Amino acid sequence: MLTVAVLISGAGSNLRALLEAAALPDYPARVVAIGADREAEGFAHAEAFGIPRFVVPWRGSAARADWGDELIRALDEVQPDLIVLSGLMRLLPPAVVARYAPCILNTHPAHLPEFPGAHAVRDALAAGASTTGASVIVVDDGVDTGPVLAQERVSVHADDTEQSLHARIKPVERRLLIDVVRRIAVGELDLAAVTSAART
Ligand code: GRF
Repeated sequence: MLTVAVLISGAGSNLRALLEAAALPDYPARVVAIGADREAEGFAHAEAFGIPRFVVPWRGSAARADWGDELIRALDEVQPDLIVLSGLMRLLPPAVVARYAPCILNTHPAHLPEFPGAHAVRDALAAGASTTGASVIVVDDGVDTGPVLAQERVSVHADDTEQSLHARIKPVERRLLIDVVRRIAVGELDLAAVTSAART
């Protein structure tokens, strides 16, 4: 059984979908801890599913390296096979990536490499894109630059707002994430192989 730690900052609706999938008897992964950089709204899902939670409070970018060290300590206590960033609004410090790569995934509400960064949905609308999408990637030291494991297009509608477009993207993100975690758990997807292939 693959053990997963999920890191969030916000509502955790994608986390909720993963928790629901992982509660099914035939799903080959379990969420063993939920962490955040603040008292996130999404912790309600941790409580609902009886999953341990931890907070490593963000204390500003000057303390980023210390935050990373604290996060490593919290994760080391759990020793997850996989870490999923599901709406964590912080760039992982290099020490965290070095410790856990390639076993860190991120979900992103755009068809990478289009629209990386924290405002992907807003940026797609501002660019007048007719399609955007959802991606699940391996986390590296860049901003949404790691190898893509799964992605799918989502159409932009003429009357879309950031909220309406994001609401259509999120179900796609959830489906891709649940499938990618399953494929990793059953050995269909080898993160070390994907990462080394991307380097060559
Ligand atoms: C998702 O679109 C995720 O990709 C982005 O933030 C959103 C998180 O939503 N980085 P939620 O907290 O899962 O509802």
